[in-house]
Amino acid sequence: MVTPSAISTDEAAVRPVVACLFDAYGTLFDVTSAARRMADEIGPDWADLAEVWRVRQLEYTWLRNLMDRYVSFRIVTAEALDFAFASLGLVPRPGLTDQLMDLYMTLDAYPEVTETLAVLRDNGIATAILSNGSPDMLDAAVSSAGLTDLLDDALSVDTVRRFKPAAEAYALGCRRFATEPCHVAFVSSNGWDVAGAATFGYQALWVNRQNRPVERLPGRPAAELETLTTLPDRLRPATEARR
Ligand code: LAC
Repeated sequence: MVTPSAISTDEAAVRPVVACLFDAYGTLFDVTSAARRMADEIGPDWADLAEVWRVRQLEYTWLRNLMDRYVSFRIVTAEALDFAFASLGLVPRPGLTDQLMDLYMTLDAYPEVTETLAVLRDNGIATAILSNGSPDMLDAAVSSAGLTDLLDDALSVDTVRRFKPAAEAYALGCRRFATEPCHVAFVSSNGWDVAGAATFGYQALWVNRQNRPVERLPGRPAAELETLTTLPDRLRPATEARR
């Protein structure tokens, strides 16, 4: 019997692609790194703060989609941080939330990101971010991590004012690379994002950094990876004829 969490690891499961799109937060950039850098000041609850901050940040994007009340991801992120402090009963000293937000603009990239992007590009596959992040956040994160020359683009859902997993958000990738979703790989560490991208029609690859079970949602990953290191082995460039 095939269990609900079974994912194919057959390399043939991933068809040739024109471009590889990446989720930003949690996939290329470590979202816990902002709170970790201020751990001494936040105190022993810093990891809980980082967790609540991230969970609420995501939930607020989905709720704002449903309520039709879009604001930029930067505002959502600041509001989620405010909630996280309040929910843990912590009162940040003046300036601490601004400092954490500044650090969120320059999160650490995971160690294998630079090499992975370079190899994909050498292999003839275009690379881009497709993120809920606002353009200013993505520009800052990409340049502080030294990734500017390794990415063809950083696409922000701010253009369509709908957060992932809305189809309009994923469609930005097809538009940018003038191709059908089936010729695009979409890589995310976020299970819900993998489900959304696969449902849209992308070949979704899941970087399961936290060893989580697969989400019980429509849209299954074509492959599961532990880190991005093995990603280039899984992707082949599509010829012009396949576009
Ligand atoms: C991103 C967040 C939501 O879109 O992970 O980058």
